[in-house]
Amino acid sequence: MMFENKPKLELIIDNIANCGYVVVEDFLPINIVENLNKLAKEHYVQNNMQAAKVGYKIKMQNSAIRGDSIFWLDENNQNKDIQIYFKKMHEIKQAFNQYLFLNVHEIEAHFACYSIGNFYQKHLDQFSQVSGNQNRQISSVLYLNKDWQASNGGELKLYLNEGENGSEIESKSKFINISPNAGRLVLFLSAQFWHEVLPAKVERLSLTGWFRTRN
Ligand code: OGA
Ligand code: NI
Repeated sequence: MMFENKPKLELIIDNIANCGYVVVEDFLPINIVENLNKLAKEHYVQNNMQAAKVGYKIKMQNSAIRGDSIFWLDENNQNKDIQIYFKKMHEIKQAFNQYLFLNVHEIEAHFACYSIGNFYQKHLDQFSQVSGNQNRQISSVLYLNKDWQASNGGELKLYLNEGENGSEIESKSKFINISPNAGRLVLFLSAQFWHEVLPAKVERLSLTGWFRTRN
């Protein structure tokens, strides 16, 4: 596989193909990550964010399942840092289609803010056949927290047994905990990887996105 001067894309494609997930450090330059952090924080303090909801056909707020607040981003957003983010996401999207034949054509993305004590219980990002939407193929999370300490909690707990559902085989389950460090990007197959966000002891900011097939 050839990606001249594109070691990150190569890493992403190889790892998604072999493991179904990948963790990329320094996905964007730190000054851009800091600008995105400021922007997310502004939306949060200005009360522009909405409580995230759970469910597909009937969406409800339930902070016992998920406690973050989100702000959806639009690709027409004129902010230059958001444009850089989308440009990078489109490069990844193109590589997914070219090398992995994923047929992903849409990107959805939102800022997320977990304030102190907030978490997101174990879930899958792709909704089941029964409840409908199966368009989300790959989940991505870009973290925006400079100098994040291990004691701050807020890790993404990614369960590595593919297709594992819920709790029965919890005892056998393998997982990795990923701290939400600034500039780190995590990608994983939306339909296969159960995951959760452990309680954050400090405000935790991220930019979450999905690569989707068309409706
Ligand atoms: C989500 C999610 C993980 C994270 O928004 O669906 O699982 O680490 N986020 O923020
Ligand atoms: Ni999720």
